[in-house]
Amino acid sequence: MAAAAGAGRALAAVAVVLVAAASLLRRSEAIGVNWGTQLSHPLPASTVVRLLQDNGFDKVKLFDAEDSILSALKGSGIQVMVGIPNDMLADLAAGGKAADDWVAKNVSGHVRDGVDIRYVAVGNEPFLETFNGTYLNTTFPAMQSIHAALSKAGLADKVKVTVPLNADVYQSPTAKPSDGDFRGDIHGLMLTIVQFLSSTGAPFVANVYPFISLYSDPNFPLDYAFFQGSSAPVVDGGVTYTNTFDANHDTLVAALRRNGFGNVSVVVGEVGWPTDGDASANPDYARRFNQGFVSHIAGGQGTPLRPGVPVDAYLFSLIDEDRKSIQPGNFERHWGIFNYDGTPKYPLSLAGGGGGNGGGGSSATLKAARGVRYLEKRWCVLKPGADLGDQKVGDSVSYACGLADCTALGYKTSCGGVDAKGNVSYAFNSYYQTMDQDDRACDFRGLATATSVDPSAGTCRFIVEIDVGAAAPAGGGSARGGVAGRVASSVLAALLLMSMLL
Ligand SMILES: *[C@@H]1O[C@H](CO)[C@@H](O)[C@H](O)[C@H]1NC(C)=O
Ligand SMILES: *[C@@H]1O[C@H](CO)[C@@H](O)[C@H](O)[C@H]1NC(C)=O
Ligand SMILES: *[C@@H]1O[C@H](CO)[C@@H](O)[C@H](O)[C@H]1NC(C)=O
Ligand SMILES: *[C@@H]1O[C@H](CO)[C@@H](O)[C@H](O)[C@H]1NC(C)=O
Ligand SMILES: *[C@@H]1O[C@H](CO)[C@@H](O)[C@H](O)[C@H]1NC(C)=O
Repeated sequence: MAAAAGAGRALAAVAVVLVAAASLLRRSEAIGVNWGTQLSHPLPASTVVRLLQDNGFDKVKLFDAEDSILSALKGSGIQVMVGIPNDMLADLAAGGKAADDWVAKNVSGHVRDGVDIRYVAVGNEPFLETFNGTYLNTTFPAMQSIHAALSKAGLADKVKVTVPLNADVYQSPTAKPSDGDFRGDIHGLMLTIVQFLSSTGAPFVANVYPFISLYSDPNFPLDYAFFQGSSAPVVDGGVTYTNTFDANHDTLVAALRRNGFGNVSVVVGEVGWPTDGDASANPDYARRFNQGFVSHIAGGQGTPLRPGVPVDAYLFSLIDEDRKSIQPGNFERHWGIFNYDGTPKYPLSLAGGGGGNGGGGSSATLKAARGVRYLEKRWCVLKPGADLGDQKVGDSVSYACGLADCTALGYKTSCGGVDAKGNVSYAFNSYYQTMDQDDRACDFRGLATATSVDPSAGTCRFIVEIDVGAAAPAGGGSARGGVAGRVASSVLAALLLMSMLL
C-alpha cells in the first residue's frame, strides 16, 4: 500500500516534470516584466529575483542600475535591461568621462560578475509631450556616448543601446496602421535614432498602452482593447485589425518601413493594465487584457505586418509602486500583476494557456513571493465616536494622503464603496503602515486608534505593510538563492537532456 502510494507519487512527479518540460519547449520565448522600485516598502531584491524565477520570467527591465538589484540578479539566468533616468541625459550628452564612468560602474563590473545585461535603455519616454521638449537635444547624444563607452569596454556586441519611447512618437494620419509614420515635430530626430538602432543592431523599444487610450477617450471601444474580437475593427487593405495592440505595433512597423528601416526589430518595453485608481482599472479588465495579450503572443505568430516574428514584450509591471507620481492619474500606483507584498492579484497563465481551461495546470496561477515578513496584524482607524464634521478630520485625511497612498479611494475604485468613516480610516491606516506602525502615526490629534481587527471589507483592502527592517540577512538570502539556483540548474540539465531525446 505504502509502496504503491510511493510509486504513484514518483510517477506523478515525473508527469509534472514532463508537462512542465513540454510547455517550456513549446514556448518560443518567455515574456519579460518591468521591475520598478518606487515603493515605500520594497521587498528584498533576492525575494523579487526568486519571484521572477518561480514565475518563469526570463528577462527583466529596470529603470536604473541599482547595485543591490543587479547583485541579486547575478547568476539568475535572467536577461536584464538596465535604465538611465532622464535627469542624467544632459550629463551623458555633454561628453567627457560621464558615460565611461556610468558604464564602468553600472555595467562592466556586473557583467564580469555574471549579470546577463543585454540592453541599456537610455532615458525613459524622453519625448513625451508633457516633458515640453526638455530631452529632445540630449537623448541621442547620450545614446551615442553610452554606445562609445560600451565599445571601449568591449561590450558593444553583447549590450545594445536603445531608448524606450512612448507610442505617440509614431502615428497614422488615417488610423490605418499601414499609413504609420513618425510624429512630424520629431521626424528628423526619430530617423537619426532609428538609423543608429539599425546600424548597431539594437531594437526599437516602444511602450504600448491601450488602457491610456481608454482613459483619455471615453468613446474608445472597450472591446478593441482586449483580444477577443471587436465590434469596431480597423480594416486596412486586406487586413482587419481586431485589437489595438496589433494595430499600434504595425503602425510602428509601417513607420520603420516607410523610412527605409523595415529590418529594425521591435521590442514592446511596457504593456499592461492597472487594477485600481480609476473606473476602467480593475482586476477583471487587467486579467482580460494581460491574459489576452500573453495568449495572443504565445504562439509566436507575430502581427499582420510581421507574420511569424514572435512579439518580444515586457509586462508592466511586476509589483505595485506606492511612491509613483500620480500626475498621470491615480491608477499609476496599481500596474502590478502582484500586490505590494508579492501576492498575485488575479489568475494569469504566463505560458499563454489562459482561461483556466487546460493550458498549463499550475502555471495558470502566478506564484506568490516566498518568505515575506509582515509587520504585526495591526491597523489604524478613526475612533468610533469621532465627529466627521470636525475640521480636524478633513485636515488629518489630507495630511495622511499627502504622505501615504490613498489612490484606492475614489469613484469606482476598490474602496469606492466604503462610507465616509471608512474613508477616513483607510487614510489613517495607509499613513500608519507607511510609517511602519509607529504609535505616533496613529494619533491624528486624538481622532485615531489602533486595532487588531482587520477593517478590510469587500474589495477594500486595509493593508499591513511588509517588515523591511526584518529583511533576511544578505547571507541567508543568497544562501536560499543558491539552493534555488542549484535546483534550477538541475531542472535545466534535465530539460536539455529531454530536448536531445525528443
Ligand atoms: C551609475 O553610475 C553613475 C556614475 O558613476 C552613478 O552616478 C550612478 O549613481 C550609478 N547608479 C545608477 C543606479 O545609475
Ligand atoms: C511643461 O509646460 C507646462 C505649461 O507651460 C508646465 O505646466 C509644465 O510644468 C511643464 N513641464 C515640464 C516637465 O517642464
Ligand atoms: C535644442 O536645440 C535647439 C537648436 O540648437 C535649441 O533651439 C533649443 O532651445 C534646444 N532645446 C533645449 C530644451 O535645450
Ligand atoms: C538593416 O539594413 C541595413 C541596410 O541594409 C544594414 O546596414 C543593417 O545592418 C541592417 N540591420 C539589421 C539589424 O539587420
Ligand atoms: C471617500 O473619499 C474619496 C476620495 O477622497 C471621495 O471621492 C469620496 O466621496 C469619499 N466618500 C465618502 C462616502 O465620503
